[in-house]
Amino acid sequence: MLQGKKIILGITGSIAAYKAAFLTRLLVREGAEVKIILTPYGKEFITPVTLATLSKNTVLTEFFKHDDGSWNSHVDLGIWADAMLIAPATANTIGKMANGIADNLLLTTYFSARCPVIVAPAMDLDMFRHPATLRNLELLRSYGNLIIEPATGELASGLEGKGRMEEPEKIVEWLKDYFKKKSRFSGKRVLITAGPTHEKLDPVRFIGNYSSGKMGYAIAAAFASEGASVELVSGPVQISLNNPAVNIQKVTSADEMNERATAIFPDMDIVVFAAAVADYKPENQLNSKIKRTSNNLILTLVPNEDIAGKLGRQRSENQVLVGFALESENGEINAAKKLSDKNLDMIVLNKLNVAGAGFDVDTNKIMIIGKDNNQKEFELKSKDDVAKDIINEIFNLMINRSYA
Ligand code: CTP
Repeated sequence: MLQGKKIILGITGSIAAYKAAFLTRLLVREGAEVKIILTPYGKEFITPVTLATLSKNTVLTEFFKHDDGSWNSHVDLGIWADAMLIAPATANTIGKMANGIADNLLLTTYFSARCPVIVAPAMDLDMFRHPATLRNLELLRSYGNLIIEPATGELASGLEGKGRMEEPEKIVEWLKDYFKKKSRFSGKRVLITAGPTHEKLDPVRFIGNYSSGKMGYAIAAAFASEGASVELVSGPVQISLNNPAVNIQKVTSADEMNERATAIFPDMDIVVFAAAVADYKPENQLNSKIKRTSNNLILTLVPNEDIAGKLGRQRSENQVLVGFALESENGEINAAKKLSDKNLDMIVLNKLNVAGAGFDVDTNKIMIIGKDNNQKEFELKSKDDVAKDIINEIFNLMINRSYA
């Protein structure tokens, strides 16, 4: 899995830097091409000569080579790599990465890197559990960086606790697993509808719903991180997603969402209908503001197209279609009915009465129902983790189909 992979290994000033020598040897043995950047403090713990010998590449430590005036281009390095692994990563380096401080070659390379960045922290237990460190790690996660959690055990300080850099063998296993998963959906084209739709009433009012779009965006990011190319047709949301593998098409109304999704649908391998599409729109969309009177106001609403239902009728057998059902009662029965009415392969059921699940929260609790009515219930999790569960189920379905 690591054969030919180009890896930047960043080593910072921690006693765990000695383990980076084993890590380098293991990576090279797996066939990876390793270029090492050592921070100035890193050099106090392990020598460039050791690392250059093991990696078979010059170790980079400074911006400039003072003797001949040449410089190490962090931009080129960031573009070259398939992954940047920072192991060990000290609290200091993590803090600088989280907060935009770029005062050494490792950090400038981090800020220029276009590849996935994986961080293996190493520090004393009190440093690790300090709110500042935990907040900085959370920030790194929010930038899309991946964290290999430190292990619990004996620390260099003599104390026992969480903070030991994960063992080199485990880091290599983690990387192999990561690259294997990363390519699961490579070459697959995925369409995701997300967010609410706003149905215009007059120039200043609309009919909408509380959908935040978080679930659909999390699914888009999960597919993109595993090699898919994603079209995200999104209603109005307050989320930003910057991923070159995700093309966001912003729409406002159900009609626009229908039009965009329908246009690209035939080219898609997988479609996830995560949007909370308004079922109705005002019959008359007024160009001037409705004025207040003392009378009741009666609005006539007309149905919108059922996008999932319509595309379900147009689908080909090879496509995988996944819907959502948000139900307040008889969840399983209603969801199963939607699955068959809309001709889907799988439906994700959200029960409205479950605490922590639903529209405007960061967590969700789902049940996935398949065509043969098999039901799989999942724990309450972050929407990012729910997205991973959903794409795992889609992958399993595709594997089963290929053997059928
Ligand atoms: N959906 C859609 N277009 C619509 C309405 C729903 O594509 N106009 C999709 C949703 O994205 C979701 C699934 O259909 O994947 C089920 O949505 P839901 O609103 O629960 O179902 P409805 O068929 O609208 O049924 P109801 O609102 O009556 O429960």
